[in-house]
Amino acid sequence: MSIITLIGYMGSGKSTVSKKVAKRLNFEALDLDEYIESQENKSINDIFKEKGEIYFRKQERFYLDQILREKKNLVLALGGGTPCYGDNMSLILKYSKSVYLRAHIPTLVSRLSKEQDLRPLIASLDKDQLSEFVAKHLFERRSFYEQSHFTVVIDQKTVEEITEEICLLI
Ligand code: S3P
Repeated sequence: MSIITLIGYMGSGKSTVSKKVAKRLNFEALDLDEYIESQENKSINDIFKEKGEIYFRKQERFYLDQILREKKNLVLALGGGTPCYGDNMSLILKYSKSVYLRAHIPTLVSRLSKEQDLRPLIASLDKDQLSEFVAKHLFERRSFYEQSHFTVVIDQKTVEEITEEICLLI
């Protein structure tokens, strides 16, 4: 199996960790959101604003399928919602070794509060709303994330420590 997928809620560090793991393994690193942005020639924010979430989820599925079938020696950082729609998780499990970057809610909220603007689902929430939203959303998504082949808890760990753990697991 030569594709590793990183799964986890927004703010769990999937993109940053994917680059480090790829470097260690001499694999290519790819971020699904960035790939969608380059293919659609629009930011994720603009895709949500101009075409809506359903269009985004359709395109997300299309590019996920394309990448998983075509690429090799790849570390792919998924979007926070990618495993949670349609049968995306089955596809992920079939074509990759998946690692769930698990974080506690306060860790996620503290990270996300510094970069809410980049994420259309949480951009308009105030601090209290953000905590409530993340708790509820994570509860809904957890059952998808937990199907991953491996789980790494990321709270209070450095990117290097997380990378090391992943490289030992896979
Ligand atoms: C989403 C997470 C985002 C991006 C989009 C939707 C989600 O990716 O795909 O804004 O549904 O959780 P990150 O997890 O990289 O922020």
